[in-house]
Amino acid sequence: MTKNPSDSYTLLTDIVLPSETNSLNHMFGGELLARMDRAASIAARRHCNEIVVTASVNHVSFDKPIPLDSVVSVSAKVSRAFKTSMEVVIEVWIEHPKKGEKYKANEAIYTFVAVDESKKPIPVPELIPVTPEERAHFDAALRRKQLSLVLAGRMHPNDATELKALFL
Ligand SMILES: CC(C)(COP(=O)(O)OP(=O)(O)OC[C@H]1O[C@@H](n2cnc3c(N)ncnc32)[C@H](O)[C@@H]1OP(=O)(O)O)[C@@H](O)C(=O)NCCC(=O)NCCS
Repeated sequence: MTKNPSDSYTLLTDIVLPSETNSLNHMFGGELLARMDRAASIAARRHCNEIVVTASVNHVSFDKPIPLDSVVSVSAKVSRAFKTSMEVVIEVWIEHPKKGEKYKANEAIYTFVAVDESKKPIPVPELIPVTPEERAHFDAALRRKQLSLVLAGRMHPNDATELKALFL
């Protein structure tokens, strides 16, 4: 059975409490990482309907600070499925507490692996991208996977063909 990215779409919305902020009254980076991990793990589970574990946090950019009392919405969608792993693209949107306007504060890419009860990786369904944006994420995902594997010491740079092609 194949799935589309929209099958895994997940949106988590919550506010920023005082205990989740630093001395500038901005949200802790670690708190945001946890919220992104939660949303992304639900998206990965919706794609494969199996137990999933976080294999890597491939790319996180903290572009804008998130003030105390903001409404924070974290969206997550599987962008590509490989054999047992899935790449999930995450976006963080903020509603300013007083102005009410919405803006995108952060983006991240996480990788999850589906595992069985004995923690052994198991195959996941194929993902078919639909929209132009989903196709762009799908196409770039192999490059990101190879970069992540090279950085983790799991792939020799010579074998990262998609990644090398960027520099040729
Ligand atoms: C992630 C984990 C399941 C991988 O298990 P493994 O025995 O090394 O299995 P494999 O080498 O077959 O890797 C499984 C898949 O993960 C991918 N993978 C592993 N590490 C990766 C990384 N750093 N970046 C991207 N993909 C990675 C592999 O490429 C493979 O993908 P594919 O099957 O789709 O091609 C295992 O390392 C694990 O359980 N880690 C702990 C997870 C966890 O507890 N997370 C919460 C953190 S507190």
